[in-house]
Amino acid sequence: MTVHFPVMGREICESLPMGESLVIVDGTFGFGGHFKLIQEALGKRLKKYIGIEQDPFLFSRMRQEFRRTPHLTLVQGNFRNIDQLLPSGLTPDVFLLDLGMNTEQLTSGERGFSFREDGPLDMRLNPVTQHVTALDVIRDFSEQELVDAFKVCSSVRSVRALVRRMKEFVALKDVPKTTKTLISAIRSLLPREKRIHPATTVFQTLRILVNDELGALEEGLFKMMPKGPSRRRIMVLSFHSVEHRVVKQFFLKHGDVGKMKTRKPICPSELELKQNPSSRSAQLRVFECYEKKP
Ligand SMILES: C[S@@+](CC[C@H](N)C(=O)[O-])C[C@H]1O[C@@H](n2cnc3c(N)ncnc32)[C@H](O)[C@@H]1O
Repeated sequence: MTVHFPVMGREICESLPMGESLVIVDGTFGFGGHFKLIQEALGKRLKKYIGIEQDPFLFSRMRQEFRRTPHLTLVQGNFRNIDQLLPSGLTPDVFLLDLGMNTEQLTSGERGFSFREDGPLDMRLNPVTQHVTALDVIRDFSEQELVDAFKVCSSVRSVRALVRRMKEFVALKDVPKTTKTLISAIRSLLPREKRIHPATTVFQTLRILVNDELGALEEGLFKMMPKGPSRRRIMVLSFHSVEHRVVKQFFLKHGDVGKMKTRKPICPSELELKQNPSSRSAQLRVFECYEKKP
């Protein structure tokens, strides 16, 4: 099993509200790394922790692993449906989102998220309920839809040429459609970046489209916002510029019910960057909702 380090665990624990009997909803439970840190930090102050995980395979493993853990309830689903996933009448003090995929999903070949391992062009987080794969996205989205998405989400310069090359690739009859063959087909159009694999942002864009990650983020955040004055904190860890922008704009737009705790996002410490270099792009934003009318 690949190890997943919870990003900015200390900073998240330090951003929790004071007070007893906290109810926390974690919309991206993953391996429960943040849960364990928060449980340790809060001790008896933790009343209830609800962990939501979309990936059904990971969810079954976590349900088994945490089956005897007090105060923890695990729910399988997409945080964009948080209104349907939480028990009615529950008033959470904290919502936590640690966006994207975990290290195991990103590095194992079978699900198609990895550009280092060969695998199918799939990338669905929940293959049981989602029917559109990365291969379908390249084939069925219009050229213009793909160009628009790649312009916003990737660092590729010749976006239209990339999209055309990908469309030609999926139309080829005698080539297997895998992550490695796709990379070979588009290699000459990929950006040359020093520290990251050239296919990183192409794979990231396909993954965002397959799982409608930005739509889920906006819908989930909207449903986490209190409808009137209410004490609540919403913490979001985002990992690339598009996510950073969506979260920042969303919180700014909802200035009538709360405000950002810090003017600038919180970033990983030097020590964390050394221990876990993949945390380098992370930004933590904490939105504090007003208890009374501002
Ligand atoms: C970065 S990992 C979270 C890791 C977790 N905080 C930990 O410390 O173990 C993100 C997790 O959220 C899940 N996920 C991604 N999008 C989701 C969504 N819209 N709804 C629910 N879970 C989601 C992924 O399957 C993945 O396991």
